[in-house]
Amino acid sequence: MRRTRREERAVTPRHGFGERFTDHMVMLEWTAEGGWAGRPRLLPYGDLTFSPAMAGLHYGQVVFEGLKAHRRQDGTLATFRPDAHARRFRQSARRLAMPELPEELFLEAVDAFVGRDGALLPAGDPTLSLYLRPVLFASEACLALRPARAYTFLLMGFVTGGFFSDRPDPVSVLVSRDFSRAAPGGTGQAKCAGNYAGAFLAQRAAAEAGCRQVVWLDPVERRWIEEMGGMNLFFVRGTGPSAELVTPPLTGTLLPGVTRDALLTLAAQRGYTVREERISVEQWRAQSESGVLTETFACGTAALVTPVGEARDGDERWLIGGGKPGAVTMELRDALSDLHQGRAADPHGWLRACAVSGEEATR
Ligand code: COI
Repeated sequence: MRRTRREERAVTPRHGFGERFTDHMVMLEWTAEGGWAGRPRLLPYGDLTFSPAMAGLHYGQVVFEGLKAHRRQDGTLATFRPDAHARRFRQSARRLAMPELPEELFLEAVDAFVGRDGALLPAGDPTLSLYLRPVLFASEACLALRPARAYTFLLMGFVTGGFFSDRPDPVSVLVSRDFSRAAPGGTGQAKCAGNYAGAFLAQRAAAEAGCRQVVWLDPVERRWIEEMGGMNLFFVRGTGPSAELVTPPLTGTLLPGVTRDALLTLAAQRGYTVREERISVEQWRAQSESGVLTETFACGTAALVTPVGEARDGDERWLIGGGKPGAVTMELRDALSDLHQGRAADPHGWLRACAVSGEEATR
């Protein structure tokens, strides 16, 4: 008997992050003369043809987002804070002198995509989610050194498990002393492609040192921890109800994470003291070694909440919380998953329900 498309996907072996896409994508163009060309169009996922002189390819006018749809325990699908991602997408575009996609068009694209391909997200496996990747790039065929006069917006997606692993296995990280991710007045707070390209060499150095990720320091004094590049960082001091959480402030050189923002709220709701405060590498090490600092975790759309078990800085190496996932980390990871999967109330209206074709209407 032939399997349906959904059954087929459900039994397909898992692929790596972003290796295998769903069947559709959404597209919308912008030109200086005409603005946005109507409404987002749903198309079969496939290759596109572009001029070799496409400006985005040469001058890097490319911004993107990453957001997820989750299957809730009642079987329906909901995206997590798509409005916050729409806002950040606009801010990133503004920083790169690109046109800003209105929020309602961003949401329409998200809904159209999830409505069409959402059925490919199997039920019954809470480790899976549908990752959505909106991207905007300069598509004008012209090498004049100025903001392009034509852009293309695309939204594609894929079903994915955990970014590092499906389990909360602690990762090891390397402090980058040789490179900076961003500079004051630069593009550090924009989600632009160049920030990621500029991080790959340091990421490779981390991998060669046996670490999963790079920790970026502030570019001026080179001692204050900023982010992990694709993920924000939180530090926990103390234990139990009196534990306090610290995350680096948004100085303009790090990405304002949507998950970071959600966790600040969820932690405060649980009664933890939460502070946006600078923390140096020296403090991180000394306080981890003395036991004052009990946990460190990374957070992001892809990474969710991932414990950091070990850090390296040149020849120095230290464990955090004995290298094991901490209680606060796990509590917040569960709180976020419960929200995503509809096991917890959503008092902030962070979930946007999506009607999926071929499935029962959204409850
Ligand atoms: C995300 O968490 O969505 C990110 O953007 C990180 C990375 C996968 C690009």
